Amino acid sequence: MLRFVLLSALAALVLSENLVPQPRCLEDVAEQRVVGGEVAQPNSWPWQIMTVSKVYIHNGWNSNNIAGGNDIALLRLSTEASLNSAVQLAALPPSGQILPNNNPCYITGWGRTQTGGSLSNSLKQAWLPSVDHQTCSSSSWWGSSVKTTMVCAGGGANSGCQGDSGGPLNCQVNSQYYVHGVTSFVSSSGCNATRKPTVFTRVSAYISWMNGIIG
Ligand SMILES: *[C@@H]1O[C@H](CO)[C@@H](O)[C@H](O)[C@H]1NC(C)=O
Repeated sequence: MLRFVLLSALAALVLSENLVPQPRCLEDVAEQRVVGGEVAQPNSWPWQIMTVSKVYIHNGWNSNNIAGGNDIALLRLSTEASLNSAVQLAALPPSGQILPNNNPCYITGWGRTQTGGSLSNSLKQAWLPSVDHQTCSSSSWWGSSVKTTMVCAGGGANSGCQGDSGGPLNCQVNSQYYVHGVTSFVSSSGCNATRKPTVFTRVSAYISWMNGIIG
């Protein structure tokens, strides 16, 4: 049964604010349709279109300080999605699991296909190996903007870009893929800027937060 969708806080906020004039109420949120975490465009993707009954944004997230972390949210669907060949449950990593440097991972999203470019009409994926925390937080990379509750991936020609926020970083561990990251931010000097890999919320740091909501 599929009842929850994992998203970044920013994407969840945009999703709920787009539909929910003040004051927020669940009836308005319930009008919002999501398709795999993206606002549904007609005929954009052959997934099931669901309505959202509740948006849970992490309390520690601060929209004025994206480098502060906790960029994570869960959407509760008003009805369960049916699992089929296109709609499947994601596997979450064990709590606390840390990827080694250069672990194989893929980002997916409908974001810009290059810095300053336009959004993609189709879902794209890119090879984005992980960059360990020691490297990613060193001064010539991201420095202190990257926290231990984040995962870095990329640093080469491929990257996430605006519009990819909230999507997954799927990483292969022991021949299975797990959602290790939720796309959070890129450098303001360019989506694939040198030594500025794409930064993700580290899902393995939020397993107990998710369990507290899902129950
Ligand atoms: C970023 O991507 C563009 C377009 O694909 C490419 O021309 C450029 O070399 C890339 N920059 C880096 C630093 O890899």
